[in-house]
Amino acid sequence: MAESMKGLKRSHRCTEVSNALIGNEVTVMGWVQKSRNKGGIIFVDLRDRSGILQVIFEEANVGSEKYAKAEKLRSEFVVAITGKVAKRAGAVNENIATGDIEVIASDIRILSEADTPPFPIEENSKTKEELRLKYRYLDLRRPDLQKNIMLRSKVATLTRAFLADEGFLEIETPTLCKSTPEGARDYLVPSRVHPGTFYALPQSPQIYKQLLMCSGYDRYFQIARCYRDEDLRADRQPEFTQIDMELSFVDVDDVIDVNERLLAKLFKETIGVEVSLPIQRMTYKEAMERFGSDKPDLRFGMELKDVTDVVRNSEFVVFKGAIDNGGSVRGINAKGQGAMPRKKIDALVDFAKGYGAKGLAYIAIQEDGSYKSSFAKFMTDDEMKNIVSAMEGENGDLLLFAADKNKLVYDVLGALRVELANQLGLLDKNEYRFVWITEFPLLEWNEDLGRYQAMHHPFTMPMEEDLEYIESDPGRVRAKAYDIVLNGNEIGGGSVRIHQNDIQEKMFKALGFTMEKAYEQFGFLLNAFKYGVPPHAGLAYGLDRLTMLMAKEDSIRDVIAFPKIKDASCLMSEAPNIVDEKQLEELGISIIASQDSEQ
Ligand code: AMO
Ligand code: AMP
Repeated sequence: MAESMKGLKRSHRCTEVSNALIGNEVTVMGWVQKSRNKGGIIFVDLRDRSGILQVIFEEANVGSEKYAKAEKLRSEFVVAITGKVAKRAGAVNENIATGDIEVIASDIRILSEADTPPFPIEENSKTKEELRLKYRYLDLRRPDLQKNIMLRSKVATLTRAFLADEGFLEIETPTLCKSTPEGARDYLVPSRVHPGTFYALPQSPQIYKQLLMCSGYDRYFQIARCYRDEDLRADRQPEFTQIDMELSFVDVDDVIDVNERLLAKLFKETIGVEVSLPIQRMTYKEAMERFGSDKPDLRFGMELKDVTDVVRNSEFVVFKGAIDNGGSVRGINAKGQGAMPRKKIDALVDFAKGYGAKGLAYIAIQEDGSYKSSFAKFMTDDEMKNIVSAMEGENGDLLLFAADKNKLVYDVLGALRVELANQLGLLDKNEYRFVWITEFPLLEWNEDLGRYQAMHHPFTMPMEEDLEYIESDPGRVRAKAYDIVLNGNEIGGGSVRIHQNDIQEKMFKALGFTMEKAYEQFGFLLNAFKYGVPPHAGLAYGLDRLTMLMAKEDSIRDVIAFPKIKDASCLMSEAPNIVDEKQLEELGISIIASQDSEQ
């Protein structure tokens, strides 16, 4: 039987009840975390989003009718309790904010009863994620998720306040857009009014924010929902949120400056972390050569070393073949891991193969200075010595080598480096290492398409000093693009945009677009540029990734209220779902059964 809360008003959240209120009457409302009947006294832990408060029922204080009600309480009942704040009579609980006080109840209403939840509502849940996601509304009651969601809200609020202060305007842009299939796959929405045509959900507000610069708004931001139909990983969701911004009359340093101050404020005011400014900058080239990644984790060393020249004349076909093919041989030194058992090394080889490596060569330097190696037999003693010395190998170290095309070597060793750091416990979640990665290549070759693709997007400005190569050697042109990387995660990225027609035309040409095709896709932007466009630049953060790192979580699902799983479905609502025949008819859509469903 659920009672109404008529005539009652909540006076405090659970943990707002403090020592200062001892002797006062309060009314608190929330969920029963647990209730224990200790013969004549009932202890109830009441929970709301602020935390837990202990309430005591004694028949002498509440009377028999209300005491009987308290006896009925079970976990997750929703109750309103009025009572007097008192110093805790029993043992103080150091673990909670209200551990030295309690409320002596004088009144109780049961606002709603509850079935037994399918899993306990508690911190550090051991329940499988699938079950928690199916009952996400219960999962979201758990204190750790509540903390994350509140943190996320704080990040959004602080961002709004900071950017407003810096003269940014918050402007919304459409989410029913034109499909411009450059980048990830679009989510499409069929039009009822124009059968056979589709809107696309935005992958980002990119074109609109550039139009807003053309329209003179100068500094724009939006906390924008973006949609990308790509394979999901722990740090990717099909819909996610960007803190998106664009600025006029600026260059790289201006964008970086305002964003460094934003980051410093966010980290200070949410989790008390001082970000020392300016944040380090590193070119893409340096990041790849030293860390094998354009999102290097700088919390540990284990940098890549190029040993191509050292092994160039060896007889080992694996190394020779890679070098003859225009590739390289590089290695990392896992310090102190020379005694790693063969089985574990084999697992690292398999890990490398998962990244496309054909193998992983190693030298395990034993404590007595002898080597266990997968390729010593192909090398002379001197060659082995030289390679060990080039790797700064000492007794007890494990040296791991990849030989292949540069890109593959970087991918493999970059990933291996992080894997090893994980295994060896080198990653401290309390340490925050930021780095700007700059001077990205403008274009990257896409084997499948047989053409260049924009590494960031087609409106990114080439670096002035490389412009002359855009036609003759497009692959070597660097861009005025920057990513902000935190602990090995790309938390944001942006660029200076092209605002000159002639450069934009060259860019489209390099991408294999005719101007006709460019106009077909981006005509409204290109036309807008004919009427006076300011130089502009911008950046977008992944709010989910940023919050994930602040919350020290491993998955962005833990900072999104209602996330989707790997196959892009929602376990709670069961979206996506089949729709009515009638809905399809209105849209002029008929479903062709796929082979899997034809049985
Ligand atoms: P970009 O594509 O780099 O840039 O996206 C910006 C940031 O968004 C986050 N992000 C994601 N987060 C969760 N799930 C995803 N699937 C996902 N994809 C991206 C990342 C990334 O750094 N319009 C440009 C920005 C600009 O140039 O101003 C853009 O969208 O943290
Ligand atoms: P094999 O002669 O094929 O048995 O290779 C000898 C060693 O070289 C093994 O440890 C392989 O894992 C390793 N290896 C093979 N291909 C590569 C490669 N492309 N890069 C690094 N090591 C490799």
